[in-house]
This record gives sequence, structure tokens and C-alpha cells, in this order.
Amino acid sequence: MYRIFFLISSLLFLAACSTNEKREVSTLASIKDTKVLQYAIEGKNLYEAYCANCHQKDGTGLGKLIPPLNPSDYMVEDIGRTARIIKYGQSGEIIVNGQVYNQAMPANPRLTNLEIARIMTYIYNIWGNKEGVIDANQIEEFLKKKD
Ligand code: HEC
Repeated sequence: MYRIFFLISSLLFLAACSTNEKREVSTLASIKDTKVLQYAIEGKNLYEAYCANCHQKDGTGLGKLIPPLNPSDYMVEDIGRTARIIKYGQSGEIIVNGQVYNQAMPANPRLTNLEIARIMTYIYNIWGNKEGVIDANQIEEFLKKKD
């Protein structure tokens, strides 16, 4: 009896994992352009290593502490600012989707322009965004500007 229970719960667990997997694949699969896809696949790995701890794998953030990226009016409003937030961090009050946030996001000084480009190509081409490729040259320009 116990073994059957164990078997059923394992199956349920596997089923839950595979539905998750499908949802993730479908976000990347919605990208048709090959170059965008190449950047986004690597960007997804980098996103999961550098951003998902806080913003979550699905980009929905964490309550009133961590703002969402999926969706975020703040992120859509200024692409260059997002590059600077990733590289240099962000602190002070900001308003995302009408909600006030005020926690520090750490800088990522070791991320290269190409890595930032890939992360940004990923987050700007899923979750309903369609910006196309954001490349390393653009990141270089974005980082020169000040807010
Ligand atoms: C340690 C937690 C943490 C990590 C890791 C982190 N962030 Fe953030 N992020 C925050 C917090 C907190 C804010 C809000 C800052 C404030 O209140 O001024 C923020 C703000 C933002 C914003 C602007 C607000 C919005 O929701 O649009 C963007 C875009 C963003 N982060 C993207 C990223 C990306 C991309 C990465 C990975 C390279 C990343 N963050 C990694 C905590 C984090």
C-alpha cells in the first residue's frame, strides 16, 4: 500500500515537473528569429544564474520586496536604464506597475556587455515583449549614459 502511494506521488511529481518544463519551453519557442533565439537561450541560463533568485524564474518578483519584470511598465519604459541597473545596481524608491519599491539591487560588475546583451534579449523577447536582438554594442552605448 505504501509503495503504491509512493509510486503515485512520484508520478504526480514528474507530471508537475513536465508541465513546468513545457511552459518554459513555450516562452522560448514563441521566438521565431534565429539570432534572437540564440541570444535568448544563453540569456535564459544567465538570467537563471544572476536574476531569478530575486525576480523569480517566471519574472513575477517577490511581493513588495522585489519588483516584477513580468510584466513591468518600468522595464518597458527605458531599455537603456535596464542595462545600467543590471551593471551598476539600483537603489532608492521606484514605482513599478503603480507599486512603490525601495530595496537595493546589487551591481553585477563582472557581467560583460555580451552577457548583459543576452540577458536583455531574453527578458525583452518573452513575457509578451518583442524587442528583437539587443547586442553588445548597444549595451556599450547604454552604459555610457547617466540617468
Ligand atoms: C538580490 C536580489 C536581486 C537580484 C539578484 C537582481 N535584482 Fe533586479 N531588482 C532587485 C530590487 C530589490 C529592485 C528594486 C530596486 C529599488 O527598489 O530601487 C530591482 C529592480 C530591477 C529592475 C527595475 C524594476 C523593474 O521591475 O522593472 C530591473 C529591470 C531589474 N531589477 C532586472 C534585474 C536583472 C535582469 C537581474 C539579473 C541580471 C536582476 N535584476 C538581479 C533585486 C534584485
